[in-house]
Amino acid sequence: MTEREIAMVLAVDETGGIGCNGKLPKWNNRDDLEFFKTLTTYHTVIMGATTYYSLPEKNRPLTMRYNVVITRDPSKYFEINSFVRFTTATTMPELTKSLPYFYKKKIFVIGGAQIYDMLADQCNTMYVTYNKGDYNCTTKLDIKKYTSNYLKETVLVEKATYKIVKYTEPKNASPA
Ligand SMILES: NC(=O)c1ccc[n+]([C@@H]2O[C@H](COP(=O)([O-])OP(=O)(O)OC[C@H]3O[C@@H](n4cnc5c(N)ncnc54)[C@H](OP(=O)(O)O)[C@@H]3O)[C@@H](O)[C@H]2O)c1
Repeated sequence: MTEREIAMVLAVDETGGIGCNGKLPKWNNRDDLEFFKTLTTYHTVIMGATTYYSLPEKNRPLTMRYNVVITRDPSKYFEINSFVRFTTATTMPELTKSLPYFYKKKIFVIGGAQIYDMLADQCNTMYVTYNKGDYNCTTKLDIKKYTSNYLKETVLVEKATYKIVKYTEPKNASPA
């Protein structure tokens, strides 16, 4: 049986920066946004509460995706929308329990830093957009720590200002 894709998706600058003062850096990369949307649409996206509330109000929950938001206190948040679930779960089996049928084919962990750190070793795939330049980020990742867990890397897109790489074949098999 083919293993379900459980993937981390992230974009970094040359310093490992992923966020600036609680927001995404101003990548101005429409192609990458389009790539993210195509990749994740009709699937489940998992994120931390900080990332969820950093999305512009009109864009949350992310449309045509089932949104799972990790928090230590779901009672702090209240949203009437059947496409978002707040949870204290921290493991992939708990996080993916009872997902709506239509959205459970693939699972995408979409940040931020705390959630990548928590779930990296429970993923079996990773998509990284490497943006050229230094965006003076306040949130950074040691990206090599994550990519070194994979045996295979495939360059999906290579442009002057960015490239997108897919990592597969995790050294430690995913539990999911
Ligand atoms: N470049 C990219 O690809 C990318 C992607 C996503 C996000 N980002 C950026 O990353 C930054 C946010 O990252 P972040 O690390 O500050 O926040 P985050 O990972 O998005 O969310 C942190 C929150 O998750 C919850 N959480 C963390 N650990 C938990 C645990 N063990 N159990 C239950 N809940 C837990 C807590 O929510 P409560 O406080 O509600 O308890 C915590 O405040 C932003 O700047 C965002 O724009 C970048």
